[in-house]
Parts: sequence; C-alpha cells; structure tokens
Amino acid sequence: MSLVRKKTIEQSIADTDEPEYQLKKRLTAIDLTVFGIGVIIGAGIFTLTGRAAKLYAGPGIALSFVLAAFCCALAALCYAEFSSTVPVSGSAYTFSYFSLGEIFAWIIGWDLLLELMLGASVVSQGWSTYAALFLDQIGLGWPSSIGPDSHVNVLAMILVLVLTTLATIGIKESLRVNLVLVGIKLFVVLFVIIAGLFYIKGSNLSPFIPPSVPSPNAHVDLTTPLIQAVFGAPSAFGVMGLVSGASLVFFAFIGFDVVATTAEEAKNPQRDLPRGIIGSLAICTVLYVLVCIVITGMVKYTDINGEAALAEAFRSVGRGGFATLISAGAVAGLTTVVLTLMIGAARVVFAMSRDHLMPRQLGKTHPKWGTPYRLTIGIGIVVAIIAGVTPIGKLEEMVNIGTLAAFTLVSIAVPLLRKSRPDIERSFRVPWNPVIPILAALICIYLMLNLSLETWIRFLIWMVIGFAIYALYGYRRSRVGVEERTGEAQKA
Ligand code: ALA
Repeated sequence: MSLVRKKTIEQSIADTDEPEYQLKKRLTAIDLTVFGIGVIIGAGIFTLTGRAAKLYAGPGIALSFVLAAFCCALAALCYAEFSSTVPVSGSAYTFSYFSLGEIFAWIIGWDLLLELMLGASVVSQGWSTYAALFLDQIGLGWPSSIGPDSHVNVLAMILVLVLTTLATIGIKESLRVNLVLVGIKLFVVLFVIIAGLFYIKGSNLSPFIPPSVPSPNAHVDLTTPLIQAVFGAPSAFGVMGLVSGASLVFFAFIGFDVVATTAEEAKNPQRDLPRGIIGSLAICTVLYVLVCIVITGMVKYTDINGEAALAEAFRSVGRGGFATLISAGAVAGLTTVVLTLMIGAARVVFAMSRDHLMPRQLGKTHPKWGTPYRLTIGIGIVVAIIAGVTPIGKLEEMVNIGTLAAFTLVSIAVPLLRKSRPDIERSFRVPWNPVIPILAALICIYLMLNLSLETWIRFLIWMVIGFAIYALYGYRRSRVGVEERTGEAQKA
C-alpha cells in the first residue's frame, strides 16, 4: 500500500514555511492573469491554427478551439479549487500527493516535466523561426548556418539562456519583463483581428465544416490517431476532424495550469488563483476564436500556409508589411511562453525535491533572490540543449498528451478529496461536483485517444523511464516514506 502513501494537507502547507525552501509571496491577481496570458498565447495560435485548419477541420477550426477551451475550462475549475484550497508550489503534482497518493503524484510530476520542459523547447524553436524571419524583414539577417534550420539552433539556445538568467534573478523581475512582452503580444493579436476583419470573404467560410473525406493516408500508420487506428477508417474533416483539430490545438491553451505552479508566490492565493486561472483562459479563448475566423475567412482553408498562416494570409491580400508586425508579435509572444514554462518546470521539481522524490539539494532557494536557483539553471541548460540540437519542432502532441494526463488525474482527485477531507475550507468550489470533474476527465481522455499512435508510444516510453527512476530513487528516499518507516518527522 505504501505506493499510495499520502502527504497530509497540513504537512504540505507547513512545508512552505521551511526557511531553506521559501519562495517570496509577491504576486497579485493581475500578475497571475498576465502570467497566464503570457504562457497561453504562443506557438499554438501563431503556428498550429493554420496546420489544424488545413489538415483536419477547415473553417470549423474555430469550433475545435471552442471544444478544446471547454475541456480546459472544466479542468480549470478543478485546478482553481485545488490551488485555492492548498496554495503550495507544484500544482497538479502537489494536489495529487495528498489526494491520490505518492505514485500518482510522481506520475503527474514526471508528466508535468514533459509538458513544461518539452513545451519550452518546442516553443523556443518556434521562436527562433520567427526571430530569424523578423531579423530578415528588418534587414539585419541571421546566419543560416546557426539558425532554425541548421544542426545547432544557436538562436533558440541564446533565448533559453537569457531567460534562464532572468528567471534565476527573481520572479517579480521576470513578471515585469513578462508584462511588457504580453502587452506587445496582445496588441498584435488584436491588430490581426481588427485588420483581418476587413479582408474576410464569406465564401471562404463555407462550408464551415467541410464534409468528411478519407484521410490522405487511408492506411493506418504512426500518425493515425489512436482511436481511428483501433476503431476504423482514418478520416479528415467532418465532425471527427473537429475533434482531431481540438486535440492538436489544445496546445494553444496549455499554460493556465502553470499559474497554479506559482501558488506559493501569490499574496492572496485563495482569492487570486481562481481569478488568474479562469480569467486568463477566458480572455484567450475569445481571442483565439476571432483569430481563427480571420485566418480561415481571409484564405480558403485548402490554401492556408501551414507554417506561417497569419503572415501569409496578410501577404495574400497585398499587406506584406503587416507580416513584419506579426513576426514581432510572435517573437515577443513566444518569449513569454518559454519563460513561463521554464519557471513552471522549476517549481514542479522544487516541490518534488522538497519531498525528496528528487535530490533535495536541488531545491534550495537563493538567500537573496528567493528563487530555486540551482533548479532554474539546471532546467535552463537541459531546455537549451533540447532546443538547440534536437529536431523536436513538431512534438506539440507530446506536450498535449502529458498535459491531458495531468488534467485527467487532477479532475478525478477533486471528488476524492471532497470525500476524504470534507472538513478543509475551500474558498473556491467546483460547481456540480462530481459531474463536472468526471466530465472533465472523460473529455480529456477522449482527446488523448485522438492523438497519434507515435505520440502514445513516445509517451509510454517516457512513463516507463519515470517509473524506473521512482523505483530506484524516489520510492526509498521519499520523505513521507521515511517518516512512515521510522515514525520520525523529517526535515524538508
Ligand atoms: N499555449 C502555449 C502556446 O501556444 C504553450 O505556445
């Protein structure tokens, strides 16, 4: 039974007072919302929308976004309940430790690392593409031998290392830079929407949901969604296309959950975390749907440029100049995504090392900066290497599967914790429990089944590695486990 040994909520909260592991409590509701928008709007809307419309959903991609948003909103309610009840760093990892037990906590923590570190690497490669384009457009240029398409993507590595320095120096400093960049990003997104409205042609938007057609690769291969590989002929477009589209563009929403990883740094977490999580998600959903309508309204979905849909849409109507502005927005926008994902990854490992599931020395905070500096630097180096030398540009689906798995477990944990600990005060409660949490879990699982076979295989390999590490290290070292064996309280 000790695999599902649990940490108590009281202990989780007491840990936040350990002097050597203390984070500064400086963030307000607005900081958290900006932080949320900073991490949500990124590569997803700038690059995936075009690809998903062209391959899966046509103009209906707007509906795919609504479906993905609905799934995220249900999960967001669950995250809001947990993070307002137990405002402790580590997000889903921490929540599952006291509600589901250690092995589940480990699975989620390992999963979150996949989401956050791989996410940061994927987005920094996307960033380098836009940065090189932008430098080109303003006449500066960047040597292609060390650019996005070369063996070593120096541009992406530079970004990661600069952001690592920033994240090490301080959370508030990071958020100040974030604020400026989020401002630029929002301006560009709004600009795209307003300027684009004038070029929408009704005929491009019809049929809104193109009829289902057999997929170009009608045979089952590694790119076939798992559910289609199991149950029948692969197809694109139609209603199933909307769902496949939603599983892909789900990536665009990833990040609101990262707000919960900074719970311990919020001034008034009970009130502000639900606001930050739900507020940032709502704002982004509205913007996304509008951008989808603009892109698919400006260009027939069959002609959309899968790589740089926004810039190309404006070029196609003779507004090439806007493309520079869009690249600038993407450069600013993707910077904040990478920054926030790395901060989130450091907070998750921080929580795991405080529980001794990872080496405890890693989590020590800096006496002056108040950040887990060793971890932040370590994670920065790993992300820089992955982004610099591996061809991961198309691994968004891996990030999605990791996140969806975490959402599923968090959703299941809400009704379980209501049952086992009805006594604790919950300043935010998911309405209609257990209907909403169960629905959230089911939709997440369904979207996961719509991801490709190769994504599943990679995900399973990642999980096997995780279990091996847990068996060889965490299971024995776990602070909760040692306390259980010796009966003595252990220091973090
Ligand atoms: N949601 C983030 C993005 O789209 C990860 O880049």
